[in-house]
Amino acid sequence: MIIYKSENEIDAIRESARLVSLTLAEIAYHLRPGITTLEIDAIAEDFILKHKAIPSFKHYQGYPASTCISVNDRVVHGIPNDYVLQEGDIVSVDCGVLLNGFHGDSAYTFALGKVSDEVLALMAATKTALYLGVAKAVAGNRIGDISYAIQHYTEKERGYGVVRELVGHGLGRDLHEEPQVPNYGNRGTGMVLREGLVIAIEPMINLGSRKIRYLDDGWTVVTQDHKPSAHYEHTLVIRKKRPEILSDFAVVEQAEQSNPALNTAYYRWVEIPELIEH
Ligand code: MF3
Ligand code: CO
Repeated sequence: MIIYKSENEIDAIRESARLVSLTLAEIAYHLRPGITTLEIDAIAEDFILKHKAIPSFKHYQGYPASTCISVNDRVVHGIPNDYVLQEGDIVSVDCGVLLNGFHGDSAYTFALGKVSDEVLALMAATKTALYLGVAKAVAGNRIGDISYAIQHYTEKERGYGVVRELVGHGLGRDLHEEPQVPNYGNRGTGMVLREGLVIAIEPMINLGSRKIRYLDDGWTVVTQDHKPSAHYEHTLVIRKKRPEILSDFAVVEQAEQSNPALNTAYYRWVEIPELIEH
């Protein structure tokens, strides 16, 4: 069942998504070599609770933490632990909150200090792919238009691996609602997008092969070839002319740029398409 949202419901999701973005910014201020992923998770959880919200992920199907923190060859759903972050790591942080009955969901990949141009380019391409998908998220287009835009840019144009086992999704009163939003597919296929549909678009892009496996913890997704993977995610609402992005990378980027431990050299390769009026 597809649940279209009223303007009041969209207002609630906007608030949730805003808090997720502020949480990712709070994390960006604290990321540095020497901190553990469990410490980062605690900072996020305290921040969410302080804002009278509930971490969406905690206890979701038994998931034990408030964030997913996926370092280097970890693709997504990394469980925060006592791993000490090091210079050269890329760190994907995924976060969701429940506020006023509605979820927001967003993810961002950070680079700690000196990271190779090859890996910085992967981050730039993944962020670009997210926006290429977002640009297709307008009423009248189809899910497959989003999927194709992401796959074509990352796989066909750049030669990266597009993870297929995990997908974007609708969200609202539930963290995961219909429809699924794959990061691969064909133009002009799938459900027609209509105003009021709220979705999360979240490309997971591998430097090498698209193939993944699960660790024994039952959650952590890793690349089979152990090459790095990047992940960016926005929550947005389908509108008539242009998508309205409900999460906000501006606050995250401001924190990222202010933290000398974080490498923002990848910005120069990010291409943000214009969100054209259709
Ligand atoms: N943002 C993630 C997603 O939509 C949610 C992680 S599921 C959890 O796929 F269980 F780890 F919380
Ligand atoms: Co998601």
